[in-house]
Amino acid sequence: MVPSRLIIVSLNLLLILISHAIAQQSLLYSCLNDEGNYTTNSTYKTNLNTLLSSLPSKINTNSAFYSSSNGQNPNKAYATGLCRGDVDTSVCRSCLNNSTNLLPQRCPNQKGAVGWYDECTLRYSSRSLHGIKRTDPAFAIWDTRNVSSDIDAFNNGVETLLEDLRTRAVEGDSLRKFAAGNADAPNNFETIYAVEQCSPDLSDVDCSDCLVDAIGRLTGSFKGKRAVRLAMPSCTVAYALDRFYDVSAESPPPPSYPPPPPIISTQPSTTNVTSDNNGNICFTVNFGQLSGPQYYT
Ligand SMILES: *[C@@H]1O[C@H](CO)[C@@H](O)[C@H](O)[C@H]1NC(C)=O
Ligand SMILES: *[C@@H]1O[C@H](CO)[C@@H](O)[C@H](O)[C@H]1NC(C)=O
Ligand SMILES: *[C@@H]1O[C@H](CO)[C@@H](O)[C@H](O)[C@H]1NC(C)=O
Ligand SMILES: *[C@@H]1O[C@H](CO)[C@@H](O)[C@H](O)[C@H]1NC(C)=O
Ligand SMILES: *[C@@H]1O[C@H](CO)[C@@H](O)[C@H](O)[C@H]1NC(C)=O
Ligand SMILES: *[C@@H]1O[C@H](CO)[C@@H](O)[C@H](O)[C@H]1NC(C)=O
Repeated sequence: MVPSRLIIVSLNLLLILISHAIAQQSLLYSCLNDEGNYTTNSTYKTNLNTLLSSLPSKINTNSAFYSSSNGQNPNKAYATGLCRGDVDTSVCRSCLNNSTNLLPQRCPNQKGAVGWYDECTLRYSSRSLHGIKRTDPAFAIWDTRNVSSDIDAFNNGVETLLEDLRTRAVEGDSLRKFAAGNADAPNNFETIYAVEQCSPDLSDVDCSDCLVDAIGRLTGSFKGKRAVRLAMPSCTVAYALDRFYDVSAESPPPPSYPPPPPIISTQPSTTNVTSDNNGNICFTVNFGQLSGPQYYT
């Protein structure tokens, strides 16, 4: 097991990476200490449990986002669940089900918490979350390998793709602010695949600001890495040299859509948690290949 500790990586920016990371669990999470604690038999806990237990079932084919609250002040609990825009409804529900079970176990005292899997983000709080941008804490997971040649050219290619996807994600609506796309890596014969997503309750401006922040940290602190995922409460950005998302999510489906073929595998990634010589926690992500198309309906 990796020790829990706070890590600051100082390059151009201070990036608060990790407060808790536990091997064999791919849930990244942070217990938010700025809202105070609750006790075992409190009304807040009851309200939160009720809210979280129903949350996964509220995801439907129209929206991979759900935002709700339960109870009366001062014990009212708020929660949001959001799945990556290419993930289908059953995977989304399963991902949020896992999060709603695990996150309160990982944060048994704090009223507020945020947890990320590759495919979904769960947040809860004693304060309203709806439409409020939050960029802290930021977590990063990266492949520790560098690209083989010309890191500057590669980084420019990543930046150009991420800027393009930012514009497209911001153009989304109140149910979905997500963009996926790819571009040729300028330094070699590989392709860069990327996704960006905001919590869709954010305004266009807040979504854009959140993504600008995430892209800046990502390109500033992880130059030349083969894969990076940066997660913040209100938005996420990821790229890799393997296609880690469903390619059909790259553009909207045509009006009359054929029935989707069977899904063969939708669990492409595995995470390795190790420590470097300075005791910093490093996440190695193995972005595998999706073996069958998957449709977001
Ligand atoms: C809340 O609980 C956490 C974890 O048990 C503890 O570290 C922290 O001091 C508590 N905060 C308050 C305000 O009691
Ligand atoms: C919580 O409630 C249960 C059942 O009423 C009781 O047995 C337990 O002692 C209570 N725990 C606390 C911390 O008050
Ligand atoms: C949820 O957890 C189960 C059991 O650990 C696992 O098999 C499943 O893949 C998880 N779902 C997602 C979407 O991660
Ligand atoms: C949700 O997760 C719990 C605990 O991991 C599991 O027992 C339950 O079967 C899951 N429900 C669904 C619908 O996946
Ligand atoms: C990756 O590149 C960085 C910056 O050029 C260098 O400091 C680091 O040692 C390289 N890491 C590996 C694993 O090659
Ligand atoms: C994780 O690390 C171990 C030990 O270094 C290695 O054997 C294993 O292949 C790694 N797994 C992945 C998915 O990278």
